[in-house]
Amino acid sequence: MSTLAITNIRELVTNSAELGPAPLGVISDAALVIDDDRVAWVGPTSAVPEADRQIDVAGRAAIPGFVDSHAHLVFAGDRSAEFAARMTGTPYTAGGIRSTVAATRAATDAELLANLDRLLEEALRQGTTTTECKSGYGLTVADEARSLRIAGTRTPHATYLGAHVIPDGYTEESYVDLVCGAMLDECAPLARFVDAFCERGAFGADATRAVLAAGAAKGLIPRVHANQLGPGPGVQLAVELGAASADHCTYLSDEDVDALSTSDTVATLLPGVEFSTRSPYPDARRLIDAGATVAIATDCNPGSCYTNSMPFCIALAVREMRMSPAEALWSATAGGARALQLDDVGALRPGARADLAILDAPSYLHLAYRPGVPLVAAVIRGGVVIKELE
Ligand code: NIG
Ligand code: FE
Repeated sequence: MSTLAITNIRELVTNSAELGPAPLGVISDAALVIDDDRVAWVGPTSAVPEADRQIDVAGRAAIPGFVDSHAHLVFAGDRSAEFAARMTGTPYTAGGIRSTVAATRAATDAELLANLDRLLEEALRQGTTTTECKSGYGLTVADEARSLRIAGTRTPHATYLGAHVIPDGYTEESYVDLVCGAMLDECAPLARFVDAFCERGAFGADATRAVLAAGAAKGLIPRVHANQLGPGPGVQLAVELGAASADHCTYLSDEDVDALSTSDTVATLLPGVEFSTRSPYPDARRLIDAGATVAIATDCNPGSCYTNSMPFCIALAVREMRMSPAEALWSATAGGARALQLDDVGALRPGARADLAILDAPSYLHLAYRPGVPLVAAVIRGGVVIKELE
């Protein structure tokens, strides 16, 4: 085992209240020592202990690697024409999912894996070190299991989303029987979470409850696509079932905000979707001011939002949802970790995984201040330098 010291960090975001002021626990003129795959020490550069190797980052900022807690990365096909139509007024609907289902079923394992790797590599170079990945573009027993098997080769945080949309040839009832029966039997051993798209044009309250309860009975942790396209029962169901997160949260009633702020269910906001579907943004301030825990994620998928850039989502969260830059960064790191029920990522404190990004900037503020600029200068994941400083 060898140790690596990162020194001369102008601003180190630790997300640890014991190391600096909340919410980000910033330490100025800091250093960080990594031992194997874990953080061993953080403190001022002036007090850094001896290490086998050293990287002097020359006054740059360092942040925890982003935790993208919502992504759909196992798919084939392209829906750029659908995006173009939206930009000239065609509304987004859940039905577009079916065209990706057809392309995904027709793709080989190698093609799906190559696309997944391309997207993960792109995200990693933009600072994402933890990614959740859903199935949901297979919608047969074999194709859902295949999607999860492929996702599972790259992330331990795979989510069974058999209940993404009702495929041709089924009623809601007959498809939910499959999702809770033979499909779940195949998929449960391959996933950590179970998810359902609770929405007009997808699954109603009873169907969503049945799918999440069946998944939970098999040991999967529920999460829900909730209240994306209009008001609905998704958030209440998520809280009632103790889901790890309710995702989207674009159309919320006062009761929904209350439920989220008095539970452990994280409200995961996906502002790239509102950008890419030209829709109103969720009211992040209302959730945060009520005391809800908010995560920011990309929702990267070929339909509603084809970005895997967490810095872009942070910039949107700040500009369009009135989150402070500190809130947005916390939500994209520690918030994502909460949404995935992980306690060793999303923060840089002794014992945490050594997952971090070095920015070509003196402060994390630049993530929103310089939108669209590739600021991630270096990435370390599990103590391994993935992208080196140039
Ligand atoms: O999170 N809302 C459901 N699923 C995805 C969209 C999938 C698609 O359009 O292909 C989402 O927005
Ligand atoms: Fe999604």
